Amino acid sequence: MRIPRNCVKMRGTENERAGATLFSLTQPTKELNTMWSTTPLTELLSIRYPLIQAGMAGGTTTPELVAAVSRAGGLGTLGAGYLTPDAIRTAIRSIREQTDRPFAVNLFIPEPYSVDDTQIADTQRRMAGIRAKLGLPEPQLPAAFAESYDAQLAVVLEERVPVFSFTFGLPAPEELAELKRLGIVTIGTATTTAEAVQLEQAGVDAITAQGSEAGGHRGTFAGPHGEALVGTMALVPQAADAVRVPVIAAGGIMDGRGVAAALALGAAGAQLGSAFLACDESGAHPQHKAAVRAAADSGTSLTRAFSGKPARGVRNAFMAELDPAADTLPPYPVQNALTRDIRQAAAKRDEPAYLSLWAGQAAGLARTGRAEAIVEALVRETEAVLGRLR
Ligand SMILES: Cc1cc2nc3c(=O)[nH]c(=O)nc-3n(C[C@H](O)[C@H](O)[C@H](O)COP(=O)(O)O)c2cc1C
Repeated sequence: MRIPRNCVKMRGTENERAGATLFSLTQPTKELNTMWSTTPLTELLSIRYPLIQAGMAGGTTTPELVAAVSRAGGLGTLGAGYLTPDAIRTAIRSIREQTDRPFAVNLFIPEPYSVDDTQIADTQRRMAGIRAKLGLPEPQLPAAFAESYDAQLAVVLEERVPVFSFTFGLPAPEELAELKRLGIVTIGTATTTAEAVQLEQAGVDAITAQGSEAGGHRGTFAGPHGEALVGTMALVPQAADAVRVPVIAAGGIMDGRGVAAALALGAAGAQLGSAFLACDESGAHPQHKAAVRAAADSGTSLTRAFSGKPARGVRNAFMAELDPAADTLPPYPVQNALTRDIRQAAAKRDEPAYLSLWAGQAAGLARTGRAEAIVEALVRETEAVLGRLR
């Protein structure tokens, strides 16, 4: 039998499969309220299901996507790391027009970095051939390498968003205190158990444990990146044992099998990024959506080529050209700013070779269709898997 792409394919014997229904995304929905779906995370966030759509900066997480996931009973997240403060405010207001359910805004915690003019000139020379292929003029250095985090956070505080999630580090103690004073729930990202402990000690309300399978940037902030590539299966139970606050599993979770596994590992919920990349409301470039759905489990790599910070994406020509010189590239956010015109030109020309195609190791399981239908399918599948295991 050929299984349609928008169905979850369950492996196993005939008997096992009989207990595990194949759920079409077009199947009519019935609200399931089951035991597994009430966890410390759903209580903390006042959401129906322990499912979070990851913040994905760069235009993927449109207000429509965030609102659709929250309306469906999960937690939608606006990936606001690259947005101007004004754009963040506009997006928050648009989400609020579309739903009164909780949602999150996600930002990048800034890290100290140095700017080396020689390093920049060398990297520009290395990318000159790519710029020529794309018909781009001589590059100009931007006025700023990144948006002001302080100004972005000010909007999060002024708008009193329900949930603030973050990656790449820890907010300052006075920022966390202000978030708490305003009743904003905080979620930090850890890639090791030691980082999870640091986040808990700083007072965050919940922790996303990001396994090395995850798509997009690594959230590593304490210790070398190369030593923080812990898989979701290894990270989640160790982090869950080490902290009291709810742990959210992230990395490689695409369907009910992954959600059930996350809960079995001790997580209080699951955060999914790649699973929402190809859905109708996702603002990802059509070439990005296509690359995600075509990705093999071995088709992604970690790269510093696009931004200067390790991130997982579908391998392409840009990575092949720049990765051999990875050690000589400027740090984040400098390299991110240097490659912006290349990525924008590639997007305009529909050219995936020079786009950042962020995706996790299980991205090939991504489904198309409405985000709400994906959330509903996740709920039904989780129920079916847990029922089968019972
Ligand atoms: C396209 C893309 C962009 C991402 N951008 C962000 C981001 O802005 N902030 C963040 O905390 N995590 C970001 N992530 C990582 C996710 O939070 C999450 O860890 C990851 O998607 C989980 O792995 P999965 O893609 O296998 O589900 C991004 C992931 C992807 C795929």
